[in-house]
Amino acid sequence: MSSLNIVNGKLWTGSGFVDAGISIVDDWIAKIGKGPTLPKAERVLNAKGKFVFPGFVDVHTHLRDADYSYKEHFRSGTSAAVAGGFTTVLDMPNTSPPITNAQALKRRIRSAQGKIFCDVGFYGSTNSVEITRELANAGCIAFKAYLHKTINGVSFTSDEYIETLAMAAKKFHRVVCFHAEDRKYLGRTEPKTAKDHLLTHPPKAEVSAIAKLIKIAKKTGAKVHVCHLSTKDGLNLIKKAKRNTDITCEATPHHLLLTESLLTKLGGLAVVEPPLRSKEDVATIVKGIADGSVEIIATDHAPHSLKEKLGKNPRPGFPGLETAAGVLMTLVSKGIIPMGGIVSALTTNPARRFSLHAGKLAQGERANVTILDPQKKWKIDPSKFYSKAKYSPFDGMEVQGRIMATIVGGKVVFEDGQIISEPAGKVVLGKQIRS
Ligand code: NCD
Ligand code: ZN
Ligand code: ZN
Ligand code: ZN
Repeated sequence: MSSLNIVNGKLWTGSGFVDAGISIVDDWIAKIGKGPTLPKAERVLNAKGKFVFPGFVDVHTHLRDADYSYKEHFRSGTSAAVAGGFTTVLDMPNTSPPITNAQALKRRIRSAQGKIFCDVGFYGSTNSVEITRELANAGCIAFKAYLHKTINGVSFTSDEYIETLAMAAKKFHRVVCFHAEDRKYLGRTEPKTAKDHLLTHPPKAEVSAIAKLIKIAKKTGAKVHVCHLSTKDGLNLIKKAKRNTDITCEATPHHLLLTESLLTKLGGLAVVEPPLRSKEDVATIVKGIADGSVEIIATDHAPHSLKEKLGKNPRPGFPGLETAAGVLMTLVSKGIIPMGGIVSALTTNPARRFSLHAGKLAQGERANVTILDPQKKWKIDPSKFYSKAKYSPFDGMEVQGRIMATIVGGKVVFEDGQIISEPAGKVVLGKQIRS
């Protein structure tokens, strides 16, 4: 048996802070209460002046590994996660080999065991009804569909495919997540420069895809989730649709802060899909977090090698796990988004939407905890990342709020800038299906 008390901190209750401590025994929270009322523990972590949050949940992470281990692998990606305060991440299926059948998923799960510093769940992607059942049986958490291009041989060129997947998601009690860009409106040639990329991914591609998804959500009753929302018009459609469909969406820290103007400065490093947009889009999505119409913040941590970012035809995406907390807490300290909006979007909301036992500090829960110093100012320096992708569109930004320690399954895995334990994460499986 091991035991750890976290004392003197400000504990997040779901809607605000209280002065209370946590007693952890093995990998579970044994008690929440005032310091003196907690049972004695082997180790006491003094969180004076710190915020104590439920471990953050990221429903959109690309851990890569396997053939893409040169971009990122389980160890580097989940190290980045805990360094950023994330204790649960959901891994995207556009890997090589891709997670498009049960065998690939099982192999990936086996390979992750013993290498992950945080808890990890896995997506699967397919347009075949048979395979949705197999993927669900093998434990995928949710389904993913990329509407904009054929990924790993799976495409959703016809609405029928999308509907099929949505129906399967409904039947197997899974969320179905979409990269919402309608290929009809995307440029036909691969963009050569960063500016080209923007032109080939216009806002109307996203808006059109979202309109289609709303229809399918309505028709099937499925839990539909829109990934990395980037447009004002897209959010307006989703807001209206919420009245009679089960649709949610996520925003990334980069779409909450950065605009397309950064492309001129950073070129390929700022290329991402969907692209960075206008000030107006950013302002609307920020408001969406504040008013709860954007329920989830997800990093879309999408590492590539520096060579792939700086060459011709720059690969879209960049790392995000290690910058999210600093960037988001800065929005809070500047009064742009209230604390509750940010923390809910990183904890309770993603946990509820994806049926994860996470996002809550309460007796009996798995002891995943994130300790943050709200005063600490620091400068984002990608050369210090645990991620293999040592670049960032936030490079050089002064932020306030830093992760001091991250606890996964009762083990302090990250403390004072260092990974200090063996991989303590576990694989999180989706609910078994009956038929
Ligand atoms: C992602 C990637 O690199 O896997 N890239 C990105 O720009 N967001 C794919 C994706 O999430 O669409
Ligand atoms: Zn995407
Ligand atoms: Zn593209
Ligand atoms: Zn992604």
